[in-house]
Amino acid sequence: TLLLSSAGMVQFKPYFTGELRSPHPRLSSVQKCFRSTDIDEVGDRTHLTFFEMLGNFSIGDYFKKEAITWAWEFVTEHLNLSPERLWASIYLDDEEAAECWLTDVGLPADRLVRLGEEDNFWGPPGAEGPCGPCSEIHYDFGSEYGCGKITCGTPSCDCDRFVELWNLVFMQFYQHPGGERDNLPEPNIDTGMGLERAAAILQGVPSAYETDLFKPIVQRVEDLSNRQYGKDQDIDYAIRVVAEHARSATFLITDGVTPGNEGRGHILRRVIRRAVRFGRRIELDGPFLSKIAETVVEHMGRQYPEL
Ligand code: SER
Repeated sequence: TLLLSSAGMVQFKPYFTGELRSPHPRLSSVQKCFRSTDIDEVGDRTHLTFFEMLGNFSIGDYFKKEAITWAWEFVTEHLNLSPERLWASIYLDDEEAAECWLTDVGLPADRLVRLGEEDNFWGPPGAEGPCGPCSEIHYDFGSEYGCGKITCGTPSCDCDRFVELWNLVFMQFYQHPGGERDNLPEPNIDTGMGLERAAAILQGVPSAYETDLFKPIVQRVEDLSNRQYGKDQDIDYAIRVVAEHARSATFLITDGVTPGNEGRGHILRRVIRRAVRFGRRIELDGPFLSKIAETVVEHMGRQYPEL
């Protein structure tokens, strides 16, 4: 039902539905993901078309309590994030999840927020598939990153202060193309943490573009365009678009996609055209994207030899 893997759980769909038997009831992965739904946001600090998603999955095995307490243990004891910086959101009336956060984890009640379907109900990926209520761990970068509005101060504010670090989905339903939902054979867990966001938090920088994942690519765009990152908002935006799209196009091509008029090919063409359009804003001329692709290959080829 999808053109590209838009989430870490995509290849596990037949296990969630019971169509296939999973080789193991507990799985974890690092998954190359591609999303074009919010391509027009790419260039801001948080949206990416291509990203690496870290996830753990339960196929009818552990459920909410374990997913929540283990996620908390991972971020506070293994990533060593300061608990005071962390918030959790839950789906409106998910009392079971609230109980896990407040009682099992001991999260202070004023750092638990209840959000609606748009934020805390995930899926299905594509026209139909598994879905369910979710609970997210948000990281507070601090009030200096806030939008300054009187309502700012919790993850319900959609500004740069809070970043959604980890999404824990309680996969309970199968949604059909018409929107009706059936229970899945068993409740499952699907979690997803963006490596790029985790890296930004761990490296103490405001976005993925300042992390070691992106720095050499941004540097290459700076060199080719003779522009410096961090001096002018419009130029920074263009540099980010070019860096991100060069990276994502390189990965799509590596996985066998070629530019075209339909399907995956059309998505790749859109990415390349948008990169060129923003490249022109920083006076990049000629076939500059292939030069940036070389940097992507050099920089990420050890982890992804297929590049
Ligand atoms: N499927 C969920 C997401 O993409 C959690 O992995 O956010």
